[in-house]
Amino acid sequence: MDTQVVIIGGGPSGLLLSQLLNRAGVATVVLERSSRDHVLSRIRAGILEWGTVQMLREAGVAARMDREGLPHDGCYLTDADLMVHIDFRALTGKQVMVYGQTEVTHDLYDAQDAMGTRIVHGVQDVTIHDLDQPQAAVEYTLNGQRHRLTCAYVAGCDGFHGVSRQTIPEQKRREFERVYPFGWLGILSRTPPVHDELIYANSPHGFALASMRNQSLVRYYVQVPLTDRPEDWPDDRFWAEFRRRIPSEAADRLVTGPSIEKSIAPLRSFVSEPLRWGRLFLVGDAAHIVPPTGAKGLNLAVSDVYYLHDALTQALLKNSDGGIDAYSERALQRIWKAMRFSWQMTTMLHRFEGEDSFAEQMRRASLAHLASSETARRDLAENYVGLPF
Ligand code: FAD
Ligand code: DHB
Repeated sequence: MDTQVVIIGGGPSGLLLSQLLNRAGVATVVLERSSRDHVLSRIRAGILEWGTVQMLREAGVAARMDREGLPHDGCYLTDADLMVHIDFRALTGKQVMVYGQTEVTHDLYDAQDAMGTRIVHGVQDVTIHDLDQPQAAVEYTLNGQRHRLTCAYVAGCDGFHGVSRQTIPEQKRREFERVYPFGWLGILSRTPPVHDELIYANSPHGFALASMRNQSLVRYYVQVPLTDRPEDWPDDRFWAEFRRRIPSEAADRLVTGPSIEKSIAPLRSFVSEPLRWGRLFLVGDAAHIVPPTGAKGLNLAVSDVYYLHDALTQALLKNSDGGIDAYSERALQRIWKAMRFSWQMTTMLHRFEGEDSFAEQMRRASLAHLASSETARRDLAENYVGLPF
Protein backbone atom coordinates (compact mmCIF):
# COMPACT_ATOMS: atom_id res chain seq x y z
CA MET A 1 0.00 0.00 0.00
CA ASP A 2 1.43 3.42 -0.97
CA THR A 3 -0.06 5.37 1.94
CA GLN A 4 -2.73 4.90 4.60
CA VAL A 5 -5.10 7.75 3.67
CA VAL A 6 -5.30 9.67 0.38
CA ILE A 7 -6.86 13.08 0.99
CA ILE A 8 -8.38 14.74 -2.08
CA GLY A 9 -8.37 18.55 -1.70
CA GLY A 10 -5.91 20.79 0.09
CA GLY A 11 -8.36 23.35 1.47
CA PRO A 12 -8.84 23.78 5.22
CA SER A 13 -10.53 20.42 5.78
CA GLY A 14 -7.98 18.37 3.81
CA LEU A 15 -5.01 20.10 5.42
CA LEU A 16 -6.38 19.88 8.96
CA LEU A 17 -7.21 16.18 8.52
CA SER A 18 -3.69 15.56 7.20
CA GLN A 19 -2.20 17.47 10.11
CA LEU A 20 -4.14 15.54 12.77
CA LEU A 21 -3.59 12.14 11.16
CA ASN A 22 0.15 12.62 10.72
CA ARG A 23 0.52 13.79 14.31
CA ALA A 24 -1.24 10.60 15.41
CA GLY A 25 1.13 8.50 13.27
CA VAL A 26 -1.07 7.89 10.21
CA ALA A 27 0.56 8.49 6.79
CA THR A 28 -1.31 10.60 4.21
CA VAL A 29 -0.93 12.08 0.75
CA VAL A 30 -2.90 15.25 -0.08
CA LEU A 31 -3.85 15.77 -3.75
CA GLU A 32 -4.76 19.38 -4.61
CA ARG A 33 -5.86 20.65 -8.00
CA SER A 34 -4.69 24.25 -7.59
CA SER A 35 -1.36 25.85 -6.72
CA ARG A 36 -0.66 26.80 -3.13
CA ASP A 37 -0.73 30.48 -4.08
CA HIS A 38 -4.17 30.07 -5.58
CA VAL A 39 -5.53 28.31 -2.48
CA LEU A 40 -4.08 31.09 -0.32
CA SER A 41 -5.54 33.88 -2.46
CA ARG A 42 -9.15 32.86 -1.77
CA ILE A 43 -10.85 35.20 0.70
CA ARG A 44 -13.51 33.23 2.51
CA ALA A 45 -14.67 32.71 6.10
CA GLY A 46 -13.62 34.92 9.01
CA ILE A 47 -15.12 33.57 12.25
CA LEU A 48 -13.92 30.53 14.21
CA GLU A 49 -16.14 28.83 16.77
CA TRP A 50 -14.45 28.04 20.08
CA GLY A 51 -14.42 24.32 19.24
CA THR A 52 -12.55 25.16 16.04
CA VAL A 53 -10.05 27.25 18.02
CA GLN A 54 -9.46 24.31 20.34
CA MET A 55 -9.04 21.91 17.44
CA LEU A 56 -6.42 24.17 15.85
CA ARG A 57 -4.61 24.28 19.19
CA GLU A 58 -4.70 20.48 19.48
CA ALA A 59 -3.38 20.23 15.93
CA GLY A 60 -0.39 22.40 16.88
CA VAL A 61 -1.24 25.19 14.41
CA ALA A 62 -2.57 27.88 16.76
CA ALA A 63 0.47 29.97 17.72
CA ARG A 64 -0.15 32.79 15.23
CA MET A 65 -3.93 32.64 15.72
CA ASP A 66 -3.43 33.06 19.47
CA ARG A 67 -1.15 36.06 18.85
CA GLU A 68 -3.02 37.80 16.05
CA GLY A 69 -6.64 36.58 16.21
CA LEU A 70 -9.28 38.73 17.86
CA PRO A 71 -11.47 36.94 20.44
CA HIS A 72 -14.98 38.42 20.29
CA ASP A 73 -17.43 38.27 23.19
CA GLY A 74 -20.52 39.13 21.17
CA CYS A 75 -22.07 40.53 18.00
CA TYR A 76 -25.00 42.74 16.98
CA LEU A 77 -28.12 41.90 14.99
CA THR A 78 -29.80 45.08 13.86
CA ASP A 79 -33.06 46.21 12.29
CA ALA A 80 -32.82 49.78 11.01
CA ASP A 81 -31.64 51.62 14.14
CA LEU A 82 -32.55 48.86 16.64
CA MET A 83 -29.28 47.21 17.74
CA VAL A 84 -29.68 43.88 19.53
CA HIS A 85 -26.53 42.84 21.36
CA ILE A 86 -25.87 39.10 21.59
CA ASP A 87 -23.45 38.71 24.49
CA PHE A 88 -21.96 35.26 23.81
CA ARG A 89 -19.79 35.35 26.87
CA ALA A 90 -22.56 36.19 29.33
CA LEU A 91 -25.07 33.86 27.67
CA THR A 92 -22.87 30.81 26.99
CA GLY A 93 -19.53 31.40 28.69
CA LYS A 94 -17.86 31.11 25.25
CA GLN A 95 -16.33 33.43 22.67
CA VAL A 96 -15.55 33.24 18.94
CA MET A 97 -12.25 34.11 17.25
CA VAL A 98 -11.93 36.54 14.36
CA TYR A 99 -9.18 34.94 12.23
CA GLY A 100 -9.50 34.48 8.48
CA GLN A 101 -9.70 31.17 6.66
CA THR A 102 -6.76 32.33 4.53
CA GLU A 103 -4.61 32.60 7.67
CA VAL A 104 -5.78 29.22 9.00
CA THR A 105 -4.84 27.64 5.67
CA HIS A 106 -1.47 29.42 5.69
CA ASP A 107 -0.69 28.12 9.18
CA LEU A 108 -1.70 24.58 8.18
CA TYR A 109 0.60 24.62 5.13
CA ASP A 110 3.49 25.85 7.30
CA ALA A 111 2.89 23.09 9.86
CA GLN A 112 2.64 20.45 7.14
CA ASP A 113 5.92 21.65 5.62
CA ALA A 114 7.57 21.44 9.04
CA MET A 115 6.35 17.83 9.43
CA GLY A 116 7.39 16.96 5.89
CA THR A 117 4.02 15.53 4.84
CA ARG A 118 3.26 14.97 1.16
CA ILE A 119 1.05 17.52 -0.60
CA VAL A 120 0.89 17.28 -4.38
CA HIS A 121 -0.32 20.45 -6.15
CA GLY A 122 -1.56 20.75 -9.71
CA VAL A 123 -3.16 17.29 -9.98
CA GLN A 124 -5.75 16.80 -12.71
CA ASP A 125 -8.41 14.22 -13.55
CA VAL A 126 -8.50 12.60 -10.13
CA THR A 127 -10.43 9.30 -10.17
CA ILE A 128 -11.27 7.04 -7.22
CA HIS A 129 -11.32 3.23 -7.49
CA ASP A 130 -11.85 -0.04 -5.60
CA LEU A 131 -13.84 1.45 -2.73
CA ASP A 132 -15.37 -1.97 -2.02
CA GLN A 133 -12.03 -3.83 -2.18
CA PRO A 134 -9.51 -4.56 0.62
CA GLN A 135 -7.53 -1.56 -0.57
CA ALA A 136 -8.70 1.53 -2.48
CA ALA A 137 -6.83 3.42 -5.22
CA VAL A 138 -6.74 7.01 -6.43
CA GLU A 139 -5.41 7.97 -9.86
CA TYR A 140 -4.40 11.42 -11.09
CA THR A 141 -2.48 13.18 -13.80
CA LEU A 142 0.52 15.36 -12.96
CA ASN A 143 2.62 17.08 -15.64
CA GLY A 144 1.00 14.91 -18.30
CA GLN A 145 1.73 11.61 -16.51
CA ARG A 146 -0.84 9.31 -14.94
CA HIS A 147 -0.14 8.15 -11.35
CA ARG A 148 -1.84 5.62 -9.06
CA LEU A 149 -1.80 5.53 -5.25
CA THR A 150 -3.17 2.63 -3.24
CA CYS A 151 -4.46 3.27 0.29
CA ALA A 152 -6.72 2.00 3.07
CA TYR A 153 -9.10 4.97 2.98
CA VAL A 154 -9.91 8.02 0.84
CA ALA A 155 -11.02 11.34 2.36
CA GLY A 156 -13.03 13.51 -0.03
CA CYS A 157 -12.15 17.05 1.09
CA ASP A 158 -12.47 18.54 -2.40
CA GLY A 159 -15.24 21.08 -1.92
CA PHE A 160 -18.65 21.42 -3.56
CA HIS A 161 -17.37 20.98 -7.15
CA GLY A 162 -14.99 18.11 -6.38
CA VAL A 163 -14.93 14.57 -7.71
CA SER A 164 -15.47 12.66 -4.44
CA ARG A 165 -19.20 13.15 -3.98
CA GLN A 166 -19.81 12.33 -7.67
CA THR A 167 -18.02 9.00 -7.17
CA ILE A 168 -20.90 7.78 -5.00
CA PRO A 169 -23.51 6.32 -7.41
CA GLU A 170 -26.31 8.84 -7.95
CA GLN A 171 -29.03 6.39 -6.91
CA LYS A 172 -27.24 5.82 -3.58
CA ARG A 173 -27.05 9.54 -2.74
CA ARG A 174 -29.81 11.60 -1.20
CA GLU A 175 -29.43 15.33 -1.82
CA PHE A 176 -31.26 18.16 -0.10
CA GLU A 177 -30.95 21.66 -1.49
CA ARG A 178 -32.24 25.19 -1.22
CA VAL A 179 -30.86 27.88 -3.49
CA TYR A 180 -31.48 31.45 -2.31
CA PRO A 181 -32.37 34.13 -4.86
CA PHE A 182 -29.49 36.44 -3.92
CA GLY A 183 -25.75 36.53 -3.28
CA TRP A 184 -23.29 38.38 -1.07
CA LEU A 185 -20.99 40.98 -2.51
CA GLY A 186 -17.94 41.16 -0.23
CA ILE A 187 -15.10 43.64 -0.13
CA LEU A 188 -11.82 43.82 1.77
CA SER A 189 -10.58 47.31 2.60
CA ARG A 190 -7.67 48.63 4.67
CA THR A 191 -9.83 50.74 6.95
CA PRO A 192 -10.65 50.53 10.68
CA PRO A 193 -13.75 48.47 11.63
CA VAL A 194 -16.98 50.45 11.93
CA HIS A 195 -17.63 48.77 15.30
CA ASP A 196 -15.62 46.64 17.71
CA GLU A 197 -18.01 43.69 17.18
CA LEU A 198 -19.66 42.25 14.03
CA ILE A 199 -22.95 43.77 12.86
CA TYR A 200 -25.51 41.60 11.01
CA ALA A 201 -27.94 44.20 9.63
CA ASN A 202 -31.47 43.73 8.36
CA SER A 203 -32.75 46.77 6.49
CA PRO A 204 -35.51 47.66 4.01
CA HIS A 205 -32.74 47.79 1.37
CA GLY A 206 -31.49 44.27 2.15
CA PHE A 207 -28.90 42.61 4.37
CA ALA A 208 -25.42 43.92 5.21
CA LEU A 209 -22.63 42.47 7.38
CA ALA A 210 -19.80 44.43 8.95
CA SER A 211 -16.94 42.06 9.74
CA MET A 212 -13.20 42.47 10.06
CA ARG A 213 -9.88 40.68 9.82
CA ASN A 214 -7.95 42.97 12.20
CA GLN A 215 -7.96 46.55 13.52
CA SER A 216 -7.00 47.98 10.13
CA LEU A 217 -8.62 45.53 7.69
CA VAL A 218 -12.37 45.14 7.25
CA ARG A 219 -14.54 42.60 5.44
CA TYR A 220 -17.96 44.07 4.59
CA TYR A 221 -20.80 42.45 2.67
CA VAL A 222 -24.10 43.51 1.10
CA GLN A 223 -26.88 41.28 -0.23
CA VAL A 224 -27.12 41.66 -4.04
CA PRO A 225 -29.25 40.11 -6.82
CA LEU A 226 -27.70 36.93 -8.31
CA THR A 227 -27.49 38.63 -11.69
CA ASP A 228 -25.06 41.32 -10.41
CA ARG A 229 -21.33 41.11 -11.13
CA PRO A 230 -18.53 42.72 -9.09
CA GLU A 231 -17.94 45.17 -11.99
CA ASP A 232 -21.46 46.51 -11.40
CA TRP A 233 -20.29 47.69 -7.98
CA PRO A 234 -17.62 50.41 -8.09
CA ASP A 235 -16.39 51.27 -4.59
CA ASP A 236 -18.52 54.43 -4.31
CA ARG A 237 -21.67 52.46 -5.01
CA PHE A 238 -20.69 49.78 -2.48
CA TRP A 239 -20.00 52.30 0.30
CA ALA A 240 -23.25 54.21 -0.31
CA GLU A 241 -25.29 51.00 -0.19
CA PHE A 242 -23.48 49.60 2.84
CA ARG A 243 -23.90 52.89 4.72
CA ARG A 244 -27.67 53.00 4.21
CA ARG A 245 -28.14 49.41 5.43
CA ILE A 246 -26.33 49.67 8.78
CA PRO A 247 -27.70 51.52 11.85
CA SER A 248 -27.06 55.29 11.75
CA GLU A 249 -24.97 55.03 14.94
CA ALA A 250 -22.48 52.90 12.99
CA ALA A 251 -22.92 54.71 9.65
CA ASP A 252 -21.86 57.97 11.31
CA ARG A 253 -18.51 56.39 12.22
CA LEU A 254 -17.92 54.56 8.92
CA VAL A 255 -14.48 55.10 7.41
CA THR A 256 -14.35 54.31 3.69
CA GLY A 257 -11.37 53.59 1.43
CA PRO A 258 -10.43 51.67 -1.71
CA SER A 259 -11.39 47.98 -1.86
CA ILE A 260 -8.51 45.53 -2.28
CA GLU A 261 -10.73 42.56 -3.12
CA LYS A 262 -14.30 42.31 -4.33
CA SER A 263 -16.26 39.15 -5.10
CA ILE A 264 -19.81 37.78 -5.16
CA ALA A 265 -20.78 34.44 -3.59
CA PRO A 266 -24.17 32.78 -4.21
CA LEU A 267 -26.09 31.49 -1.17
CA ARG A 268 -27.10 27.85 -0.95
CA SER A 269 -28.09 25.19 1.58
CA PHE A 270 -27.07 21.68 0.47
CA VAL A 271 -26.55 18.29 2.09
CA SER A 272 -25.63 15.00 0.42
CA GLU A 273 -26.19 11.80 2.41
CA PRO A 274 -24.53 9.46 3.30
CA LEU A 275 -21.02 10.76 4.03
CA ARG A 276 -19.48 7.30 3.61
CA TRP A 277 -19.28 5.04 0.58
CA GLY A 278 -17.14 1.99 1.29
CA ARG A 279 -13.59 3.27 1.84
CA LEU A 280 -14.52 6.86 0.89
CA PHE A 281 -15.55 9.55 3.41
CA LEU A 282 -16.89 13.01 2.48
CA VAL A 283 -15.78 15.99 4.56
CA GLY A 284 -16.72 19.70 4.58
CA ASP A 285 -18.01 21.44 1.46
CA ALA A 286 -17.74 18.18 -0.52
CA ALA A 287 -20.79 17.01 1.44
CA HIS A 288 -22.61 20.17 2.51
CA ILE A 289 -22.92 23.90 1.92
CA VAL A 290 -24.52 26.47 4.22
CA PRO A 291 -25.38 30.08 3.42
CA PRO A 292 -22.72 32.21 5.17
CA THR A 293 -25.11 34.13 7.45
CA GLY A 294 -24.37 31.98 10.50
CA ALA A 295 -20.58 31.80 9.86
CA LYS A 296 -20.80 28.00 9.85
CA GLY A 297 -19.14 26.76 6.59
CA LEU A 298 -15.56 26.47 7.75
CA ASN A 299 -16.55 25.49 11.29
CA LEU A 300 -18.69 22.62 10.02
CA ALA A 301 -15.78 21.37 7.91
CA VAL A 302 -13.66 21.36 11.08
CA SER A 303 -16.23 19.36 13.08
CA ASP A 304 -16.38 16.74 10.28
CA VAL A 305 -12.58 16.52 10.48
CA TYR A 306 -12.83 16.05 14.24
CA TYR A 307 -15.13 13.03 13.84
CA LEU A 308 -13.22 11.55 10.91
CA HIS A 309 -9.69 11.85 12.25
CA ASP A 310 -10.84 10.10 15.41
CA ALA A 311 -12.58 7.37 13.39
CA LEU A 312 -9.62 6.80 11.03
CA THR A 313 -7.02 6.64 13.80
CA GLN A 314 -9.19 4.06 15.63
CA ALA A 315 -9.49 2.01 12.45
CA LEU A 316 -5.85 2.24 11.40
CA LEU A 317 -4.06 2.17 14.74
CA LYS A 318 -6.44 0.17 16.95
CA ASN A 319 -8.09 -2.03 14.35
CA SER A 320 -11.52 -0.85 15.50
CA ASP A 321 -14.18 0.05 12.91
CA GLY A 322 -16.75 1.53 15.33
CA GLY A 323 -15.77 5.12 14.50
CA ILE A 324 -15.81 4.78 10.73
CA ASP A 325 -19.12 2.92 10.86
CA ALA A 326 -20.63 5.76 12.93
CA TYR A 327 -18.96 8.69 11.08
CA SER A 328 -21.75 9.55 8.64
CA GLU A 329 -24.53 9.54 11.20
CA ARG A 330 -22.49 11.30 13.87
CA ALA A 331 -21.37 14.10 11.59
CA LEU A 332 -24.80 14.51 9.98
CA GLN A 333 -26.50 15.08 13.33
CA ARG A 334 -24.40 18.20 13.87
CA ILE A 335 -24.54 19.22 10.19
CA TRP A 336 -28.36 19.35 10.15
CA LYS A 337 -28.42 21.58 13.25
CA ALA A 338 -25.99 24.00 11.61
CA MET A 339 -28.10 23.83 8.43
CA ARG A 340 -31.16 24.87 10.41
CA PHE A 341 -29.36 27.73 12.15
CA SER A 342 -27.83 29.06 8.91
CA TRP A 343 -31.19 28.89 7.11
CA GLN A 344 -32.94 30.62 10.03
CA MET A 345 -30.35 33.44 10.22
CA THR A 346 -30.58 33.88 6.43
CA THR A 347 -34.37 34.01 6.44
CA MET A 348 -34.44 36.38 9.42
CA LEU A 349 -32.01 38.88 7.93
CA HIS A 350 -32.47 38.96 4.12
CA ARG A 351 -35.02 40.64 1.91
CA PHE A 352 -36.47 38.23 -0.64
CA GLU A 353 -37.28 39.71 -4.07
CA GLY A 354 -41.04 40.03 -4.53
CA GLU A 355 -41.81 39.19 -0.89
CA ASP A 356 -45.01 40.49 0.66
CA SER A 357 -45.27 42.96 3.52
CA PHE A 358 -46.02 40.06 5.90
CA ALA A 359 -42.52 38.61 5.37
CA GLU A 360 -40.93 41.93 6.29
CA GLN A 361 -43.04 42.11 9.47
CA MET A 362 -41.93 38.57 10.41
CA ARG A 363 -38.27 39.57 10.13
CA ARG A 364 -38.84 42.67 12.21
CA ALA A 365 -40.78 40.69 14.83
CA SER A 366 -37.96 38.12 15.04
CA LEU A 367 -35.47 40.88 15.82
CA ALA A 368 -37.87 42.57 18.26
CA HIS A 369 -38.27 39.21 20.02
CA LEU A 370 -34.50 38.83 20.30
CA ALA A 371 -34.29 42.33 21.75
CA SER A 372 -36.78 41.51 24.50
CA SER A 373 -36.05 37.86 25.31
CA GLU A 374 -32.85 36.65 26.92
CA THR A 375 -33.96 33.09 26.18
CA ALA A 376 -34.08 33.87 22.45
CA ARG A 377 -30.68 35.54 22.59
CA ARG A 378 -29.19 32.58 24.45
CA ASP A 379 -30.53 30.18 21.82
CA LEU A 380 -28.92 32.24 19.06
CA ALA A 381 -25.64 32.59 20.99
CA GLU A 382 -25.46 28.85 21.71
CA ASN A 383 -25.69 28.09 17.99
CA TYR A 384 -23.38 30.92 16.90
CA VAL A 385 -20.49 29.98 19.21
CA GLY A 386 -20.94 26.38 18.03
CA LEU A 387 -22.80 23.34 19.33
CA PRO A 388 -20.65 20.75 21.10
CA PHE A 389 -18.85 18.18 18.91
P1 FAD B 1 -12.68 24.04 0.10
O1 FAD B 1 -12.18 25.19 0.84
O2 FAD B 1 -13.57 24.28 -1.07
O3 FAD B 1 -11.42 23.20 -0.38
C1 FAD B 1 -11.51 22.17 -1.34
C2 FAD B 1 -10.18 22.04 -2.05
O4 FAD B 1 -10.25 20.95 -2.96
C3 FAD B 1 -9.84 23.27 -2.87
O5 FAD B 1 -8.55 23.71 -2.54
C4 FAD B 1 -9.95 22.79 -4.32
O6 FAD B 1 -9.01 23.45 -5.18
C5 FAD B 1 -9.66 21.31 -4.19
N1 FAD B 1 -10.27 20.48 -5.23
C6 FAD B 1 -11.50 20.60 -5.77
N2 FAD B 1 -11.70 19.64 -6.66
C7 FAD B 1 -10.59 18.89 -6.69
C8 FAD B 1 -10.22 17.74 -7.43
N3 FAD B 1 -11.05 17.16 -8.31
N4 FAD B 1 -8.99 17.22 -7.22
C9 FAD B 1 -8.15 17.78 -6.32
N5 FAD B 1 -8.46 18.87 -5.59
C10 FAD B 1 -9.67 19.42 -5.78
N6 FAD B 1 -17.89 30.28 5.07
C11 FAD B 1 -18.10 31.09 6.09
O7 FAD B 1 -18.30 30.58 7.21
N7 FAD B 1 -18.08 32.46 5.93
C12 FAD B 1 -17.84 33.03 4.71
O8 FAD B 1 -17.80 34.24 4.58
C13 FAD B 1 -17.61 32.22 3.62
N8 FAD B 1 -17.40 32.75 2.41
C14 FAD B 1 -17.22 31.91 1.36
C15 FAD B 1 -17.03 32.43 0.08
C16 FAD B 1 -16.89 31.58 -1.02
C17 FAD B 1 -16.69 32.17 -2.42
C18 FAD B 1 -16.94 30.18 -0.84
C19 FAD B 1 -16.80 29.23 -2.03
C20 FAD B 1 -17.13 29.67 0.44
C21 FAD B 1 -17.27 30.53 1.55
N9 FAD B 1 -17.46 30.02 2.82
C22 FAD B 1 -17.66 30.82 3.85
C23 FAD B 1 -17.47 28.60 3.11
C24 FAD B 1 -16.11 28.13 3.59
O9 FAD B 1 -15.09 28.84 2.96
C25 FAD B 1 -16.05 26.65 3.27
O10 FAD B 1 -17.04 26.02 4.05
C26 FAD B 1 -14.69 26.02 3.54
O11 FAD B 1 -13.74 26.51 2.62
C27 FAD B 1 -14.78 24.51 3.40
O12 FAD B 1 -13.50 23.95 3.39
P2 FAD B 1 -13.21 22.64 2.57
O13 FAD B 1 -11.76 22.37 2.79
O14 FAD B 1 -14.21 21.61 2.89
O15 FAD B 1 -13.47 23.03 1.03
C1 DHB C 1 -17.52 36.67 7.90
C2 DHB C 1 -18.26 35.87 7.08
C3 DHB C 1 -19.47 35.38 7.51
O1 DHB C 1 -20.20 34.60 6.72
C4 DHB C 1 -19.94 35.66 8.77
O2 DHB C 1 -21.15 35.19 9.15
C5 DHB C 1 -19.18 36.44 9.60
C6 DHB C 1 -17.96 36.93 9.17
C7 DHB C 1 -16.23 37.21 7.43
O3 DHB C 1 -15.87 36.96 6.24
O4 DHB C 1 -15.56 37.91 8.19
